[in-house]
Amino acid sequence: MENGLGSSCIANDERWSLAGATAVVTGGTKGIGYAIVEELARFGAAIHTCSRNEAELNKCLKEWGAKNFKVTGSVCDVSCQADREKLMEDVKSTFGGKLSILVNNAGTGFVKPMVAITPDEYKFMMSTNLESAFHLTQLAHPLLKASGAGTIVNVSSLAGIVGIDNITIYGATKAALNQLTRSLACEWAKDNIRTNCVAPGSVRTPLMEPLLAIEEFVAKETYRIPLGRVAESEEVSAVVAFLCLPAACYINGQVICVDGGKSVNGNL
Ligand SMILES: NC(=O)c1ccc[n+]([C@@H]2O[C@H](COP(=O)([O-])OP(=O)(O)OC[C@H]3O[C@@H](n4cnc5c(N)ncnc54)[C@H](OP(=O)(O)O)[C@@H]3O)[C@@H](O)[C@H]2O)c1
Repeated sequence: MENGLGSSCIANDERWSLAGATAVVTGGTKGIGYAIVEELARFGAAIHTCSRNEAELNKCLKEWGAKNFKVTGSVCDVSCQADREKLMEDVKSTFGGKLSILVNNAGTGFVKPMVAITPDEYKFMMSTNLESAFHLTQLAHPLLKASGAGTIVNVSSLAGIVGIDNITIYGATKAALNQLTRSLACEWAKDNIRTNCVAPGSVRTPLMEPLLAIEEFVAKETYRIPLGRVAESEEVSAVVAFLCLPAACYINGQVICVDGGKSVNGNL
């Protein structure tokens, strides 16, 4: 049926395709990262991912190979400078010096009162959640620029927007990612690189499994979510993929909450 935008089917529309695109997704072996790898692969991108656990990485690469997805991987601890440099060297040689998409997804968190956080825990969170994204983005710049139309998506958190007890340091790293997103959106637009951020609320992943096993936590958490439930990883990866598509070419510098409406809920 004619829709006024032409008669071609969306599936054949290059605005809604990542065919020919190359992507790096950090932390792709579990949870949200795994879903992002699959989502981008379904849109036709070739992906390079990483994690610290070689056996898990190889298992995932095998699963994706069986689905005919184009995914390669490196063992890399994104909190370690030398590993980050090695990862981007791997990416450079795998994709011939050009990168269309960088998704800074790898991250972690723990629940602890502010007064109990040790200097080592502070450093661990900063290097895993913030320094990793900052440095990988720096390293990716020439490759993203060389692609002619690069895009970065940072995975932050609702905890970087609103205050939540006992995850202060986690929230601080994610708030910094939100601001890094806005600043780079302005600084690198001249290189035709868009930068955006997805800020999920609670998502059912291995990271959240221990908390989501506690009935009282789930009741408290979902009480303020208008949709009344936590998210699945695929509900976050869909938004990440959209931001990477040519169809999203005028979206730049945005932090998009994927939280079932929790951040806008003013009801008691
Ligand atoms: N789940 C939620 O409710 C939620 C909400 C808001 C934001 N987020 C954010 O979403 C992102 C993904 O979270 P998730 O819940 O999917 O976590 P997850 O289930 O723990 O999965 C994390 C993935 O990242 C990898 N990873 C962790 N630390 C790494 C490191 N230092 N170097 C390389 N890879 C590393 C893990 O593999 P290895 O452990 O084998 O390295 C795994 O593949 C994080 O940035 C998190 O802060 C999650």
